[in-house]
Amino acid sequence: MDKLLIRGGRALHGKVSISGAKNAALPELCAALLTVDVVTLKNVPRLQDVVTMEKLIRNMGVAFTRSADGIVTLNASALDKPEAPYELVKTMRASVLALGPLLARFGKATVSLPGGCAIGSRPVDQHIKGLQAMGAIIDVEHGYMNARLPEGWTRLKGAHITTDMVTVTGTENFLMAACLADGVTILENAAQEPEIPDLAEMLISMGANITGHGTSRITITGVDKLHGCTHSVVADRIEAGTFLCAVAATGGDVVLENARGDHLDALLDKLREAGASISQVPLGLQVISSGKLKAQNFRTTEYPGFPTDMQAQMMALNCVAAGASIVTETIFENRFMHVNELVRLGANIQIDGRAAMVTGNAKLSGAHVMATDLRASASLVIAGLVAIGETTIERIYHLDRGYDRMEEKLRGIGADIERIK
Ligand code: UD1
Repeated sequence: MDKLLIRGGRALHGKVSISGAKNAALPELCAALLTVDVVTLKNVPRLQDVVTMEKLIRNMGVAFTRSADGIVTLNASALDKPEAPYELVKTMRASVLALGPLLARFGKATVSLPGGCAIGSRPVDQHIKGLQAMGAIIDVEHGYMNARLPEGWTRLKGAHITTDMVTVTGTENFLMAACLADGVTILENAAQEPEIPDLAEMLISMGANITGHGTSRITITGVDKLHGCTHSVVADRIEAGTFLCAVAATGGDVVLENARGDHLDALLDKLREAGASISQVPLGLQVISSGKLKAQNFRTTEYPGFPTDMQAQMMALNCVAAGASIVTETIFENRFMHVNELVRLGANIQIDGRAAMVTGNAKLSGAHVMATDLRASASLVIAGLVAIGETTIERIYHLDRGYDRMEEKLRGIGADIERIK
């Protein structure tokens, strides 16, 4: 298993290019299942979750090509197996995104339940409930969701869906399913994360009729069929946020090409209050930091609030910043797995339920640590970049799931980091 070796204590300088968003690319690859025409996606990031989605989609009988410059073409005209098996779903929860499009186009789908996850139980009950409201019959048997249309139906029916909580992939599943349903679907309490409007724009360019995307109420009027399109995946705000925290914590001056400040308002506010200077420049975002920061209290919430996917990285920054801070996680019940590993590097953190109390000004020193989930791995990289001496991070397959060549990009801006095979 690969490891990362980091020799910390260097400021970061230069330019880094932000890739397409993992969380937009995954639903958009699934949206290609809705048509018999060719779909071309540009700016698709090179990361393991995309490879898993490729395997899943190929396994259904979809033709898939990928060029070195991030262009993917999909042709689902010969799709003959509307199934997502456990072997693939267990490694990536987002496989559940196949359910809505398969059901919409084929009237049936068999998708494994995702099972447990390091950061919480993460059920898919809302996905099931919403699709049932559109008429689907979904039996859960032997660990699989077997979905079909009632006898005599050829399409799902539009419905008024109000989810119990805001769910990102749930909203995406309903959005894709509703495009080919009979009549109007209204999604209340819809997620507003920038990946949702990006998916909606792609679906609109395939011929879908959608309004209200980017707000908590989305209206979709079903159409008979969707056609092919070419769509460019929006920039990854979480990758950009991770680099912003890294530069803020180590000190330095870096331009993040393609990064969108308008997708990162909550994080930018905290980083500016902490003492980093961040400005939108023609190429993207520029961050300048002396490395001397003030710790910030923050609380994760749905977009446009502070993203749970940035909680671990911002906590790493708080560990070395001046002052005490309280970090509250409201989205996932078990998302503090990075805390014990940060403590191994010298951080001072106490957990109390959903809150973590961080005492700042820690003098981090390199150590052996273990990555436990995707964003936890990123927080350990940031801590390792600040720590004095050598940090070795094990189990970086978690990092590879969601970051496009992170160590290469960090080396490009002056970090001393290498992958050990
Ligand atoms: C997506 C993102 C993930 C991010 C998360 C929250 C993708 C591929 N992944 O995950 O990176 O951390 O949003 O911003 O886009 N819930 C239920 N029942 C459901 C669905 C969700 O109880 O049927 C709960 C979850 O357990 C969680 C909360 O709702 O506590 C939000 O989860 P959700 O927005 O669905 O997360 P994902 O879409 O899985």
